[in-house]
Amino acid sequence: MIDPERDPESAARFGRMLLDWYDAHQRGLPWRGSRDPYAIWVSEIMLQQTRVAVVVERFQQFLERFPSLPALALASEQDVLALWSGLGYYRRARMLHKAAQFVMEHRGGALPETAEELRLLPGIGAYTAAAIASIAFDQPIGVVDGNVERVFCRVQEWPSTGRSGAARLRRSITTLVDRIIPSTRPGDFNQALMELGATLCTPRSPQCVLCPVAVDCSTRGEHPTAPRPAMISTEIGCALAVRSSASPGPSHLEILVEQRPQSRTVMPGLWQLPTLLDPNVPDVALRMTLRHAIMRVNYYVRIRTVMAEEVDSLTRLQGERRWVPQAEIASLALTGLTRKVLTRAHLLRPPVQSDAMQAEPHDLQA
Ligand code: ADE
Repeated sequence: MIDPERDPESAARFGRMLLDWYDAHQRGLPWRGSRDPYAIWVSEIMLQQTRVAVVVERFQQFLERFPSLPALALASEQDVLALWSGLGYYRRARMLHKAAQFVMEHRGGALPETAEELRLLPGIGAYTAAAIASIAFDQPIGVVDGNVERVFCRVQEWPSTGRSGAARLRRSITTLVDRIIPSTRPGDFNQALMELGATLCTPRSPQCVLCPVAVDCSTRGEHPTAPRPAMISTEIGCALAVRSSASPGPSHLEILVEQRPQSRTVMPGLWQLPTLLDPNVPDVALRMTLRHAIMRVNYYVRIRTVMAEEVDSLTRLQGERRWVPQAEIASLALTGLTRKVLTRAHLLRPPVQSDAMQAEPHDLQA
């Protein structure tokens, strides 16, 4: 247990041991080598709801295409969404793009340097503001995600609460971290806590014998936690309509896709496969079945091949439709499920990682 009031040395020792361990054992994540606030901002937005392993690859591709804040601000929204395709939670990409345009227009391209001001930008909530301010601008302010929460529940032997107590627990832990965070290297301190939670102080089988702060930890092991909310299951059907191209060119095939209306709250403007009127696909027509998880919902998706002339009778028209040459399909802002289906059907090269949401939400509305 650490007690910054009665035993300030316990807090100082905790910080020293944690940072020494981080210096020796941290994973070499690409944004960690950067002091560029723009790059750190992009990484934190991607990390809001996507696993670190997925973000590593996508972060590099994004920065190659949009290497600076002005480059991002000048891009079209469809280009930004296309690069975000497969990462999910497209609202993040739209907000990032809007915020870059705002910063160019009103702040001469310079990001604010404090968490209070960063929070005023689209897509930046308390968590992300604290992460950017501490990592890019050395503001000593705590960043508490699920990993950090677990570390301190164990160190302090505080019970993990269910949903109703979660906000109170998060506040107590944020207050504690704000008290003990060192004024030198606050960003590294925050990232070291996340790293400890992600690599050693894991939900199951924590590696306490390797832990740098085990001497100050009250539990040194697994600790009762509230059960996760159960997943909901739902069934849908998608149409895979492919035809030969009429015009000569490098692509022989065209795939039918449909743009989700801009009025939709979920994934507006993204391209998807047409939805079947009836998800109960007859056995002879069934091409494949797959599961696609978004937040707490498991979508069990049946995919059938549909001839061009059957499209109207078998699918529900929900937006503009286009027959897109196979060679161009990867440059569209596709939904994650569409990308997954086309990949499994060998119509699209596999992405680096699957896009299923695994990380916990930070600051996100939807
Ligand atoms: N999750 C959110 N921000 C992170 C960071 N900077 N490093 C590792 N995991 C993170």
